[in-house]
Amino acid sequence: MCGIVGYIGKRNAYPILIKGLHRLEYRGYDSAGVALINAQGQLNIYKAKGKVAELEAYASDKDTTGTIGIAHTRWATHGEPNTVNAHPHYSESERLAIIHNGIIENYAVLKAGLQKEGYSFKSETDTEVLIQLIEYTQVNKHVDLRTAVQLALQQVIGAYAIAVLDKDHPDTLIAARKGSPLVVGVGQEEYFIASDATPIVEYTDKVIYIEDEEVVKLSTKGQSTKGQSTKGQSTKGQSTKDEGIEITTINNVQKTPEIKRLELSLSQLEKGGYPHFMLKEIFEQPRTLADSMRGRVNVRQDNIALSGFIDNKERFMNAKRIIITACGTSWHAGLIAMYAIEEFAQIPVEVEYSSEFRYRKPVINRDDVVIAISQSGETADTLAAIQLAKEKGAFIFSICNVIGASIPRLSNSGCYTHVGPEIGVASTKAFTAQVVALTMLALCIGKEKGTMSEEQYLHVVRALGQIPDKIECVLSQNKRIADFAKTFTYAQNFIYLGRGYNYPVALEGALKLKEISYIHAEGYPAAEMKHGPIALISQEMPVVVVAPRCGTYEKVVSNIQEIKARNGRVIAIVTEGDKMVSKIADYVIEVPETEECLTPLLTVIPLQLLAYHIAVVKGCDVDQPRNLAKSVTVE
Ligand code: AGP
Repeated sequence: MCGIVGYIGKRNAYPILIKGLHRLEYRGYDSAGVALINAQGQLNIYKAKGKVAELEAYASDKDTTGTIGIAHTRWATHGEPNTVNAHPHYSESERLAIIHNGIIENYAVLKAGLQKEGYSFKSETDTEVLIQLIEYTQVNKHVDLRTAVQLALQQVIGAYAIAVLDKDHPDTLIAARKGSPLVVGVGQEEYFIASDATPIVEYTDKVIYIEDEEVVKLSTKGQSTKGQSTKGQSTKGQSTKDEGIEITTINNVQKTPEIKRLELSLSQLEKGGYPHFMLKEIFEQPRTLADSMRGRVNVRQDNIALSGFIDNKERFMNAKRIIITACGTSWHAGLIAMYAIEEFAQIPVEVEYSSEFRYRKPVINRDDVVIAISQSGETADTLAAIQLAKEKGAFIFSICNVIGASIPRLSNSGCYTHVGPEIGVASTKAFTAQVVALTMLALCIGKEKGTMSEEQYLHVVRALGQIPDKIECVLSQNKRIADFAKTFTYAQNFIYLGRGYNYPVALEGALKLKEISYIHAEGYPAAEMKHGPIALISQEMPVVVVAPRCGTYEKVVSNIQEIKARNGRVIAIVTEGDKMVSKIADYVIEVPETEECLTPLLTVIPLQLLAYHIAVVKGCDVDQPRNLAKSVTVE
C-alpha cells in the first residue's frame, strides 16, 4: 500500500506535500517523491529511496517552488525500492507526471502496445505504463488531460488511486480511483487530494470521498473567493457547488460532488508525548474502548443496543451460518468472535483468511451472514471476499474503524469501532475494539434468540462496563514489563500458548512480537505442544502462556508443568491472586478477573507491551516496521 497526496491552490505546495507524506508514511516507506510545477511552468520531480526524511534531504537545495504538486510514499509492488521505481513518474515527453497507489494487473499488455508505438520505459513499474498510456491517448486522440485519463483508465484492469499533472496546465490537477482510497479536501481557493484524511485535517474539514471509477478535476482557473470557510460548521452530507471541482465517471458521466464534514482532529494524529504511536495507542485503550461502548453498552439498563443489529435482526435470526472473513490481527479478533457467537448465539461460525476465502470457490448461501473485520476498511483481500459473498446473496456486516472506507461502503450494515486513527502499523486499540464490537454482537444475537440465559447476559454486560478500568490496572505494570522484556532480546524464537478464548490471544501475541521486533514467534493451542512443538523447548526459546483462571485453566497448568519439566522458560499471564501458575512460571503478569469471554481484552495487553518493549530495546522501528504497511490494499 502506498500513500498519495496532492495540492493545488494559492500556497506553496511543497511544505504541505512533505507534511502530508509524513502523515501517510505508515502506509509504506520504501521510497518517496514529489512533483511540482513552478511559476516558470517547469515540472520538477525529486525522488529518494527510503523514508520521507531522505526525500527532504535530497530536495533541500532544489527548486521546490510552485502552488501545485503531487507526492508519494511507496510500498513496492512492481520493481524494487529505488529512485528509478519511486513515484512520481514522468511521461516520455516529461510534460506529465503521475503518482499511483494500487496495482495495474494488465500493465504488461499495455506496455507491449506502447513499446510497439515507440515508447520506452525507465522503470519496472506498472505506474509508468499508465502515464505513458495517458500521454499516448492525449497526443493521438487530441483530447484534454481529463479525457485522456478517462480513456486510459477504461483500458486498465486493477486497482488505482492516481493524481496526474500537466506542466502546460498548471491550474489543473486530475485524480481518480478504483479499489484504492482517495479523499478530496476542499479549502478556500485551494484543494487537496490524499489516500486518507490525515494530510488534510489541519487545512479543512470539508471532504469528498471519491467513489470507484470516478475522475475528479480540481482547477484554480478563474478562482474567485468562494463562500466562507466552513471549518467547524456542519456540512454533513451537503453538496455545495464549487466551480473548481468536477467529478465524472471514467465514462464521462457527470457526478455531483457530495461535500461531507471530517470527524477527525489534529490532536488525534499527534503522539501526545509518547515515544511511539504504538505505545500511545496501547495506553489509549481504556478510553477508546469506553468510546466504542458509549451509547451501545448501557450498564444501568443492563442492555446493549447495536444499531447495525437492530436494523437487521431477521438476517441474524435466520442465519444458518456466520462466516467471518479478515486478515492478520483482524482475523484473530474473528477467531475470538467464533467462541462467543457459538457459545451465546449457537450459530455455526467459520473464520476465514480473506485471501483464501476469495479464491477457494467457497460455498456461500443466501441465508449466510458474512462478517468482515478490517481496521482500515481497505484491505484488498477482505474487500474482494465480501464482493464475492455479496454477489452470492449473503448479508454483509462489517466491523471497521475508518468511516467511509471501501469495506463499510460495500457492506449491507456494520458497526464502526470509533477508536480514532490507528497510526502504528501494529494493531492494538483497533483489535480490542473489534473484540468488544463482536462480543456485543454475539450478546445481542444470543439475547434475541434466547440461547443465553438472562443471568449470563447480565453478567457479561456488567463485566464489559468494567473493562476500561481493568485495562488501566494492567497498563500500570508497564514499567515492570519493560524491565523484564530486556532479558528476552537474545531470543531468536518464542512460542505463545493459550486455550479457548485465549488461543487467539496467543496467536495475536506472537504476531505482535514478529511484526515489530523481527523475532520469530508462533502461537499454538496449549494442548498442541505435545503434538510436536514440545520438541523445541529449551532455555533459548521463551514460552509465553496465557493462563487466566477460567475455562480449561487446570489443563493449561499441566501444559506449563510439561514445559518446566523440560527446562523451558515460561512467561505466564495469570488472573490476579493466582496461586498455582505463579509457583512454577519464571515470570508472571497478573490481570484482573473478568468473564471468560472478556479475558482476551485483558490478557492481550501485556503481550502488546511485551512486544513493544522488546522491539524498543532491539532498536527496531516500532511504528513503521520493515517491509510492512498499515493496510494491505494490494493483493
Ligand atoms: C496487525 O498488527 C497487522 N498490522 C496486520 O496483520 C493487520 O491486522 C492486517 O493487515 C489487517 O488489516 P485491516 O484490519 O486493516 O484489514
